[in-house]
Amino acid sequence: MRSDEATLPRPLAGAGLHPLAVRDLDEDEIREFDELKRRIEARGFRCGGYKDRCLRRRIGMRMRACRTRTFAEYAAVLAADADEHQRLLDAVMINVSKFFRNAEVWRAVETHVVPRLFERDLPEVRVWSAGCAAGEEPYTLAILLEEYAARHGLRDRLDRVRILATDIDGDSLRAAERAEFADYALAETPADVRERWFDGDRVHRLRPEIARRVRFEPLDLLRDPFPTGIHLLFCRNVLIYLERAVQDELFRRFREALEPGGFLVLGKVETLCGPAAAAFRPVANRERIFRAV
Ligand SMILES: C[S@@+](CC[C@H](N)C(=O)[O-])C[C@H]1O[C@@H](n2cnc3c(N)ncnc32)[C@H](O)[C@@H]1O
Repeated sequence: MRSDEATLPRPLAGAGLHPLAVRDLDEDEIREFDELKRRIEARGFRCGGYKDRCLRRRIGMRMRACRTRTFAEYAAVLAADADEHQRLLDAVMINVSKFFRNAEVWRAVETHVVPRLFERDLPEVRVWSAGCAAGEEPYTLAILLEEYAARHGLRDRLDRVRILATDIDGDSLRAAERAEFADYALAETPADVRERWFDGDRVHRLRPEIARRVRFEPLDLLRDPFPTGIHLLFCRNVLIYLERAVQDELFRRFREALEPGGFLVLGKVETLCGPAAAAFRPVANRERIFRAV
């Protein structure tokens, strides 16, 4: 299991690795797997850019849940059960996140990035969280900015910060807009931060003064045009599921989306690679924070 997947809650009780997720496939199985991917693509999800290993692992979870042994059996379930397609997409997209995920990264963002965003007195500071799940990441940044600005007498500048958060998954975006979270999402959030910015016990409602600072929009990183003029770009725990060539292309497009000197933050287990890597220099290597040159 990948280290990042190890931190995810199990999507289904008793779910584990389906044999077809881990062993080499024979010719018939490869054909059936390709056919299954074609069916999924026909419904609008581009499997092509994702690592086969990752797709098989996640599809395998649904296959186990449906008690199917082969890709063909599972394709039959998909064809017969209209709801299964959505369950499969939920499994493939792995839209699990947390506020303050990898606390050391947020400390590094606060030390190395946030002061730079304010010091230039820009008329507008543009932030993009790409693959934002239900908003935990962009909302964490909004909290960080709010608290930093309050400590440094910069609250009047906060309205200049535009946080755009995008994801391929419409359900996640709708959940993000509701700004209500279960315990799991706050498991790494310091108690005093919870106290200040969330209401409720069973469901944790993010206070509107933070929630209103983030704008959510659908965006498929593999198909859609990117925003431009970005000063800070988060793309964490998304690239790891994508083929290396697709990652290379995304790094090139991220560089285009960023202003010179703009910051890029990747997931803790992701690495900047490919020809575009030369267009970035590390700011905090261990925390995967880079700056466009
Ligand atoms: C594991 S979550 C990461 C959430 C957050 N960035 C974090 O690190 O906690 C991965 C997110 O990427 C989204 N995603 C997967 N493929 C995508 C694509 N092609 N375009 C945009 N978002 C995508 C998923 O829907 C999911 O919300």
